[in-house]
Amino acid sequence: PEQEADYKARIKGLLKQHNAVLVAHYYTDPLIQALAEDTGGCVSDSLEMARFGKNHPAETLIVAGVKFMGETAKILSPEKRVLMPTLEATCSLDLGCPADEFAAFCDQHPDREVVVYANTSAAVKARADWVVTSSIALDVVDYLDRQGKKILWAPDKHLGAYVQQKTGADVLLWDGACIVHEEFKAKGVEDLKLLYPGAAVLVHPESPRAVVELADVVGSTSQLIKAAQTLPNREFIVATDQGIFYKMQQLNPDKVFHIAPTAGSGATCRSCANCPWMAMNVLDNLVDVFERTDNEIFVDPHLAQRAMVPLQRMLDFKK
Ligand code: 13P
Ligand code: SF4
Repeated sequence: PEQEADYKARIKGLLKQHNAVLVAHYYTDPLIQALAEDTGGCVSDSLEMARFGKNHPAETLIVAGVKFMGETAKILSPEKRVLMPTLEATCSLDLGCPADEFAAFCDQHPDREVVVYANTSAAVKARADWVVTSSIALDVVDYLDRQGKKILWAPDKHLGAYVQQKTGADVLLWDGACIVHEEFKAKGVEDLKLLYPGAAVLVHPESPRAVVELADVVGSTSQLIKAAQTLPNREFIVATDQGIFYKMQQLNPDKVFHIAPTAGSGATCRSCANCPWMAMNVLDNLVDVFERTDNEIFVDPHLAQRAMVPLQRMLDFKK
């Protein structure tokens, strides 16, 4: 705790000294989320992280999350320096969608509007007509469907299937998945519901369909946090990364949150559902974030220019 306090104080001073702001995702370590809040930064979902970074006047953005979030920040603010605690924090969706294979897939289906999830590389975004996050995926696909457009969706097959089912759009899916959400099991959620019959079930749409079907609310991280505040239930079963409990508990000190069980876990599980890449963001690598030379985000300017178009479309779609 002493070292923790020392690190926090040092990071606060460094942010000021470097005219930098900390932008953190809801899945990061609670210590990092708290620090972002204490220092005038932001803790949010991936859409709001992008918006906040673009609109903030700081010269340097410290993005605590995974690599695509840092890349998105850099594409939207090429004039800013974007640093991350580690560039090794990636995402299984990003890894499962190599740009060359994706471009070939798009070439085979020229009649489709290309909609990609934000959890992708800059090169994949550069090939897209639209970038979406889970908080606006439904609205964007619904909008395109109403215009009679057919969709090519990548990379998350579960979110894609959910969007397809909700909107009735013609959606061709890439075969990708999030290794964290894919582990949630319907049986585990059903067992937990027997233990806590009054609990509402909150599910991130990267989860498999059988789990989504058990949900009272399906939504992005920010939408699930909102649901935890607005639903009258006192207890919740939550199928998403457990980092989200920091904010849920902070906003609802009297409510009780249970993590949905994953494969192999018992009815209750404290260590499951923790994204290994999000967990790489720790105070230890945040404290020397300005000193190292291996943690700055660079995006090829030509790619960035192309990726900016669908990203800006996303920001403009819902102000
Ligand atoms: P949100 O856009 O809902 O914050 O999700 C990002 C993410 O990586 C989910 O796994
Ligand atoms: Fe990617 Fe899943 Fe981790 Fe989110 S939780 S960053 S989708 S691997």
